[in-house]
Amino acid sequence: MSHWMRRLHKWVGLILAIQFVLWMSSGVMMSLLEADKVAGREFRVKPPAPPAWPRDVMSTDAVLAATKENIMTIGSGWVLDQPVYRLQNDKRSWLVSASDGAAIVVDAQLAAKIARASYSGPGKAGAPRLLSYTLEARSHKEPVWRIDFDDADETSVYVSSRSGAVLEHRNSTWRLFDLFWMLHIMDYSERTNFNNPLLVASAIGGLWMALTGVWLLFVSVRLAEFIPSRWRRSRTVNLVATSGRPQRSIDAVQGDTVFQALARSGLQLPSNCGGGQSCGLCEVRCVGNVPAPTGADRALLSPAKLEAGYRLACNLPVKRSLDIDVGDATALADERAGVVTSVKPLSPFLREITVRPNAPVACRPGAYVQVHVPVYERDATHLEIPEDHHEDWRTVGTLAALANDAPVRRSYSVAVPLERCDGQLTFLVRFVPGPKPGRGSGYMYTLKVGDEVHFSGPFGDFALKEGAREKVFIGGGAGMAPLRAMIHELLAKGATEPLHFWYGARSRRDAPYVEEMREFALKYPNFDWNLVLSGESDEPGIQNGLVHEAVLTGLLRTHPNVDSLEFYVCGPPAMLSATREMLRGLGVEDARVAYDDFKI
Ligand SMILES: Cc1cc2nc3c(=O)[nH]c(=O)nc-3n(C[C@H](O)[C@H](O)[C@H](O)COP(=O)(O)OP(=O)(O)OC[C@H]3O[C@@H](n4cnc5c(N)ncnc54)[C@H](O)[C@@H]3O)c2cc1C
Ligand code: FES
Repeated sequence: MSHWMRRLHKWVGLILAIQFVLWMSSGVMMSLLEADKVAGREFRVKPPAPPAWPRDVMSTDAVLAATKENIMTIGSGWVLDQPVYRLQNDKRSWLVSASDGAAIVVDAQLAAKIARASYSGPGKAGAPRLLSYTLEARSHKEPVWRIDFDDADETSVYVSSRSGAVLEHRNSTWRLFDLFWMLHIMDYSERTNFNNPLLVASAIGGLWMALTGVWLLFVSVRLAEFIPSRWRRSRTVNLVATSGRPQRSIDAVQGDTVFQALARSGLQLPSNCGGGQSCGLCEVRCVGNVPAPTGADRALLSPAKLEAGYRLACNLPVKRSLDIDVGDATALADERAGVVTSVKPLSPFLREITVRPNAPVACRPGAYVQVHVPVYERDATHLEIPEDHHEDWRTVGTLAALANDAPVRRSYSVAVPLERCDGQLTFLVRFVPGPKPGRGSGYMYTLKVGDEVHFSGPFGDFALKEGAREKVFIGGGAGMAPLRAMIHELLAKGATEPLHFWYGARSRRDAPYVEEMREFALKYPNFDWNLVLSGESDEPGIQNGLVHEAVLTGLLRTHPNVDSLEFYVCGPPAMLSATREMLRGLGVEDARVAYDDFKI
C-alpha cells in the first residue's frame, strides 16, 4: 500500500508541482505589493463631503412627472459641482440635471473632467476611450470611459458612461497584482471565480498531497529515527553465507534498517535508489526469524523470493538482533578498480565499455557489478559521438551538461564471460537521455580509454541453471548484456541442448552484436538467432513486431513440449512484464523463468 501511495504521491506531486509553485510565488508577490497602489488609492482624490442639497432644484416628484418612462429607482447626487438625479428602470440608467430635468450625457469631455477631478498625481490625461467591457473594470457591466494618465505607474481612471461615477483607479502595480491573482485562483478568463473546477480540483489534490505526505512520513520514518542513535539499544546483525556458515557480525542500533547498519559498517548493498524502497536491488535473505513482507517488499520482490525469506534491506528494521544472508559479504565491502581499455559505440545509444580490473575478478555469466559513480560535471561536448550517430542524438534534444552531485552506484551486467575476454569486464551501457541525463549512464559515456573506474561486486543471482534443458533467451535493449554472456559461456563450453535467442529492438541500428549472433548461428547448429524489430524493416531474415509476440508465434505455439523449456529474460520493464505475462499465459512455471530486471 505504502509503495503505491508513494508512487501516486510522486506523480500527483509532479502534476501539481507547477501549481504549488504558482500558488506560493503568487502569494508571496501579492503580499509584497504596496496595498495603497493595488487599491488604486495612491492618486485618488478622497471625495469631499457632498454640499447641502440645494433648495431651488426640481423635486423628485417633478422629475418623475416629467419623465415618460417607467422609473424603478431615483437617487440624487453630484457630478462634479452639478446636482443630478440618477434614474433607473429595468432597461437602463441615466442622469438628469436636478436644476432643470434635462438629460445629462456622460460624453468624452465630461468623463475626462470627472477623471481629472478624481486624480491627484503628476500625470497628464490622455484622450478618453469608451469601452463596452474591460477586465480592468470587470465588476461594472455598463460601458465605461477609460482615461489614461502618463505617470510612472500608468494610472487609468474608469468613469461610468451612465452615472458619471468614478469606478476604478488602476495602475501597473494593480495589473501585476491582478496577474498573480489570476494564477492564484486559476480563473484564467474572468479572474473572479474562486469556485472554478480547476481550483477546486487542485485544492483537493493539494490537500490529498498534504495528508498522504503526513501518512508517508509516519510509515516511512520509524519513530526510532527521531531518537539519537546513542540513546537507542544496540543490536547485532549476523551475516551468514548461503550455506549457513557465519561470516561476520555487524553492530547496529535498534531502529536502523539493515541497509543503514550495513552501510555504516562499510558494506554497501546494491542500490539504485539510495535506500528509498523503489529500486528493489537491496534484497537480503532473512535466516530464522522472517518478518511479514511489507507492501514495498511485495511490490519489488517476486513471490518466490518472498517465500524464500528475501526482504528489502532498506525496509527491514533492526528491532532485535537478526541473522541475514547477503551472499558474499566481502564483495560488498570491497572497492575494486580497473582501467578502461576500449570504448565502442555499438548503436546510437548502446556503448560497449571494457575495463581491465587491477586484480582478477571471478563472476558467473548473468552477474553484474556496481560501478561507483563519482561526483562529476562534464560539458556535453565531452561525449564522443560518431558521425553517423549525430542524427539519432539530435532526436533526444539538446543535451544538457552531464553531472552528478553526490556519489552513487549503478549496476552494469557483464556482457561476456571474463575468461573469454582476457579477464576484462565488458559492459553494454544504454545512455539514459532526458533534460537531466542519467547520472550513471552519463558517467559511463564520458569514460575514455585509460580512465580509472571503481566498482564493487560481482553480484546477482541471474545465472544459468544446472542441467542441459533446451533454453530460450528473450531480450531487448541493454538486456543483451547478461544474455550474451550466458550464450558465450554455453557455446564455448560445448553445450548441445538447443539454444534460442530472441532479441527485440526498435530498428536494425539499435541492435548490438547482430553480426556476432549471426556467425554463432552459422557455426553452432544448436543455436538460433532471431532479431525482431518493432519498427518497419524489409531486411530478409528479420521479423517485425514485438519480441514477446514473435517468440510466441515463431517458437512456443508450435513447440512440442513447452514444459521442457527454460527461459532467461532481460530487457526494458515493459518487455519484461509482457514476456512474463505471456509465459504465465502458456502455463510456464515461474521457477523455469529466470529474469533480470534492470528497472529502467
Ligand atoms: C541488476 C542490474 C543490472 C543492470 N545492467 C545494466 C546494463 O548492463 N546496462 C545498462 O545500460 N543498464 C543496466 N542497468 C541499469 C543501470 O543500473 C542504471 O539504472 C541505468 O544506467 C540508469 O541509471 P542512471 O544513473 O543513468 O540514471 P538516473 O540518473 O538514475 O536516472 C535517469 C532517469 O531514469 C529514471 N530511473 C533511474 N533508475 C530508475 C529505476 N531504477 N527505476 C525507475 N526509474 C529510474 C530516473 O527517475 C530518471 O528519470 C542494470 C540495472 C540493474 C538493477
Ligand atoms: S535500496 Fe532501493 S529498494 Fe532498497
